[in-house]
Amino acid sequence: MSDTQSDPGPDLSQGIVADSLTDGALLAGHVGDEAVLLARRGDEFFAVAAFCSHYHGPLAEGVLVGDTIRCPWHHACFDLKSGEAVSAPALAPIACWTTEQRDGKVFVRAPAAPRPAARAVSAAAAPRRIVIVGGGAAGFAAAEMLRRKGYDSDLTMLSDDAAPPVDRPNLSKDYLAGNAPEDWIPLREAQFYAERRIDLRLSTAVAGIDPRAREVTLADGKRVPYDRLLLATGAEPVRLPLPGMDLPHVFTLRTLADCRAIIARAGEERRAVVLGASFIGLEVAAALRARGLEVHVVAPEARPMERVLGPQLGDFIRRLHEEHGVIFHLQDTAAAIEPGRLRLASGGTIDAGLVVAGVGVRPRLALAESAGLAIDRGVSVDGRLQTSAPGIYAAGDIARWPDAHSGSAIRVEHWVVAQRQGQVAALNMLGAGERFDAVPFFWSQHYDVPINYVGHAESWDEIVVEGDIDARDCLLRYKLGGRVLAVASIYRDRASLLAEVEMERATV
Ligand SMILES: Cc1cc2nc3c(=O)[nH]c(=O)nc-3n(C[C@H](O)[C@H](O)[C@H](O)COP(=O)(O)OP(=O)(O)OC[C@H]3O[C@@H](n4cnc5c(N)ncnc54)[C@H](O)[C@@H]3O)c2cc1C
Ligand code: FES
Repeated sequence: MSDTQSDPGPDLSQGIVADSLTDGALLAGHVGDEAVLLARRGDEFFAVAAFCSHYHGPLAEGVLVGDTIRCPWHHACFDLKSGEAVSAPALAPIACWTTEQRDGKVFVRAPAAPRPAARAVSAAAAPRRIVIVGGGAAGFAAAEMLRRKGYDSDLTMLSDDAAPPVDRPNLSKDYLAGNAPEDWIPLREAQFYAERRIDLRLSTAVAGIDPRAREVTLADGKRVPYDRLLLATGAEPVRLPLPGMDLPHVFTLRTLADCRAIIARAGEERRAVVLGASFIGLEVAAALRARGLEVHVVAPEARPMERVLGPQLGDFIRRLHEEHGVIFHLQDTAAAIEPGRLRLASGGTIDAGLVVAGVGVRPRLALAESAGLAIDRGVSVDGRLQTSAPGIYAAGDIARWPDAHSGSAIRVEHWVVAQRQGQVAALNMLGAGERFDAVPFFWSQHYDVPINYVGHAESWDEIVVEGDIDARDCLLRYKLGGRVLAVASIYRDRASLLAEVEMERATV
């Protein structure tokens, strides 16, 4: 078999009794060497590749929704008829196979010819020049979607990073731990941009936007005109106003260069301090433990991640990291960093030659502010992701949008949300007029424990725990006034997907 699967399942080319699959059923099998998934929707049968094109999630453990299948791991969504990755984080299609029903059986036949995605716009109606500021999750997903949907005029992507768009979530997980090959990190190779005529300009800072003249000004003074503009400038790590923050052994983590610098330093040190018990801080702690460093986490809160996940999961996460040798200094902060040593506010010191600050990020709003766009703790956008300036859209960590599910204007810092917003903004720059109504989703990984989170709950009055948190088999519902605002889960992927579908339906 070409895919790692202990049991390849039935040979689907030999036929399966049609009635053995109920409506919505999924069956993993194979055709020759290929792992194939057979799905039943009403009286129709679909056959597609059995693994997700993102990180190889087993689609047989996913959920059918209409004519799509959702991946259990990070909730990507594929069209069963065309294989198109209609919703991030997967961006590449999956293969489709033809099926035939005969004598009460369904047979999977041959691979189907790939189908190009439907064009979103006629060439005549398309804007002549689209400029994207930002080479991260939202910017890349927008550029990919524009070309996928047949936009073939000028497309320019400006990024002040020296690296092309990367799989940022991996920078605090497998890549930092030393368990991911280099080729996992770029979202696409250089050839991708060349073939699609995406003018990707790296190390190119945008200094200003003139919404009237419809042009952006680069730091070197050059001007780039646009008809539609997407702002996707992301966020930057908060730097604590602390003596010693600028010492060479103190790092923050946002870019590939940041990550490589931490890896280089980790190779020379025995002990590290992580400031902050945030998702990124604790993922960094886990990755540095995997590299064999002694790791201390210093954070002001009583429980890690309690503000987002509540006390039950907070306690579990603390125990999980302690089982892996992490030493917590909670309800404490750093008072000063010195070469080789960190002073705690409580009076103690920790000798460490590596300090990583993971104390939150702040959205990069300077361009939007100076262009006079409406700002409300983020760039304010409407339901179609357009800013207060016609023709200028915003997506990702900077965007505050009217979220239909919570009923509030929210801004989140999630990879999948940024990508999906980039995709919707791309369609809307082509005139689609689509609402951004995806339920927010994020995941985090600590050692072998993934945490999936669907929805958005800034506060709650009840947390209902189903299953057993310590057994790593649980789902927590965060409720306010009896309504479920968000769901966190560990190894309950189908239930997490079903909760997402339920939340979508509740707001349709
Ligand atoms: C280490 C790490 C791990 C993470 N893990 C997860 C995870 O597991 N799950 C999850 O849901 N989220 C995770 N996140 C958060 C996620 O990566 C972000 O929410 C996402 O990247 C936001 O996408 P974006 O496009 O808004 O911004 P970014 O991806 O940050 O991209 C912004 C881009 O804009 C460019 N830029 C900014 N200003 C300018 C300018 N003036 N001129 C030119 N270019 C400019 C930047 O160089 C960059 O290319 C993680 C983040 C980090 C840093
Ligand atoms: S592996 Fe399928 S969405 Fe990530």
